[in-house]
Amino acid sequence: MQARRGAKAILVHGGCGLVSAERYDRLRAGVRAAAEAGNAILDADGDALDAVVAAVRVLEDDPEFNAGTGAALTREGTVETDASVMDGDSRRVGAVAAVPDLGNAVLLARAVLEAGEHVLLVGPAAWQFAHEVGITPAPPGSLVTPRQRQRLQEAHTVEREREREGGTVGAVARDRRGRLAAATSTGGTMRKRSGRVGDSPIPGAGTWADREIAVSCTGDGEAILRVALARTISAYAATGMTAREATAAALAELRRLTGGTAGVIVLDHSEHAFVTLSATMPVAWIDDTGAGDAI
Ligand code: GLY
Repeated sequence: MQARRGAKAILVHGGCGLVSAERYDRLRAGVRAAAEAGNAILDADGDALDAVVAAVRVLEDDPEFNAGTGAALTREGTVETDASVMDGDSRRVGAVAAVPDLGNAVLLARAVLEAGEHVLLVGPAAWQFAHEVGITPAPPGSLVTPRQRQRLQEAHTVEREREREGGTVGAVARDRRGRLAAATSTGGTMRKRSGRVGDSPIPGAGTWADREIAVSCTGDGEAILRVALARTISAYAATGMTAREATAAALAELRRLTGGTAGVIVLDHSEHAFVTLSATMPVAWIDDTGAGDAI
């Protein structure tokens, strides 16, 4: 889809993977609501950074997605969440990883970005900073949904779970001043070890934004880390490929080098695109030419 330079746009994803058809309508409604939340900020001449945070927050609060409420569980049945947010204009980035009982990881990542002291805070110790900025833990067990509890009971290995529904969430946006931003949030993989960190909170792996392109990834976090997927897409785009071509090329490389699966949303000053190697990836977008969704 073509867009004028300076025109606003937001594109969100709800994770790639295998999803039963009976969930399609709920996932579609979720990504639409997230795109609308981000678009409301862009429509009011707000920042792309604020728009992606608002969109991702909606999906973190939606129990259908693997982030915040509804996050995947560790093998002990606990929730540890990861997120990152990146501002393309300034290259500021904030991230958190493996933080227990954190419902809105994107808000803590945003606070890390604003503080500017560090890029990435991890584990239970991140709660020290969280309390300083007024973020409190979710009540015990409140992020654990019956669906994810059942999945944990059925999950025998992380490897098998990797092939199943992902549900990581993310957003990329361009504001009316032409600034780009990206954000990604996840509960990680079902039955993961406590302390495991995937691609989502790692700049250049699960999330990237610069002055030319914004990227949010989903899928097999270990594979995405091994190819620095988001930064690879920006590097391919810098050679003159379109955003879609760069994404397809980087995903082909990921598949060839790792055998893994991933999906990507990407936005530059000319187009937005989504490409996935897996069966489904709910997405929704709104720009100055209209709105759409796909799964
Ligand atoms: N892509 C999300 C994760 O592997 O944690």
